[in-house]
Amino acid sequence: MLTIALSKGKLIESAMTLFRRAGYQSAGLSGESRRLIFPCPEINTTFLLVRASDVPTYVEYGGADAGIVGKDVLLEQDSDVYEPLDLGFGACRISVAALRGGGSRDRLSSKIRVATKYPKLTERFFNQRGIPVEIIKLYGSIELAPVVGLADRIVDLVETGSTLKAHDLVEVEVIAHSTARFIVNRASLRLKHEPLMELIRRLRAATLNPVSASNNGRRSAVPQAKKKMAGA
Ligand code: PRP
Repeated sequence: MLTIALSKGKLIESAMTLFRRAGYQSAGLSGESRRLIFPCPEINTTFLLVRASDVPTYVEYGGADAGIVGKDVLLEQDSDVYEPLDLGFGACRISVAALRGGGSRDRLSSKIRVATKYPKLTERFFNQRGIPVEIIKLYGSIELAPVVGLADRIVDLVETGSTLKAHDLVEVEVIAHSTARFIVNRASLRLKHEPLMELIRRLRAATLNPVSASNNGRRSAVPQAKKKMAGA
């Protein structure tokens, strides 16, 4: 029996589609339900629904054998897990953004104040450039921070760019690109080698082949990774 951690939110639909296409039909699994644990004995798998930022923790400490999580979360957390597959979907970028026109800075501090849910990644990025920063850790609605004067910049995910546009923010620099990754617990890969390698093989095939027999020849609902931003 394999235990796989998924997160509610943007990746769940594509993750469920991918498992179906890989031949892991999980009738009971639903992102809509209040349930957090979905035993699927027909495919020898139990799915757990956890917060996106908790997926690497469940996998690293063996609460789950494997999981699907965005590269953005992995970059922030530096978890000790295997990352054998880039699944391609959930493509977005982690970017620095600022108010169009720069906004005004009333504070005397020489440090740039940056609001983000990625404090480590942000600090690393600005440190590498020798730019002094004060990090304001937020848990969501990051785009609000410059609008109300809480921060000079934000570091956040950009997918379509519409949230930035809606708040009169512009992307200043791309820090990294992100897609969904399949991650595996190191001990599980030894102890449950066969089922995990079979799952990885099937997920890889389902990721690479846009049409598979298991969806009756229809095109995949799993979006392909978007093109990288030019110059990033
Ligand atoms: C994410 C991210 C941006 C938005 C970007 O937020 O933090 O706010 O999506 O998408 P866009 O470029 O297509 O507009 P999410 O919906 O995960 O909610 P959050 O603000 O609570 O983090």
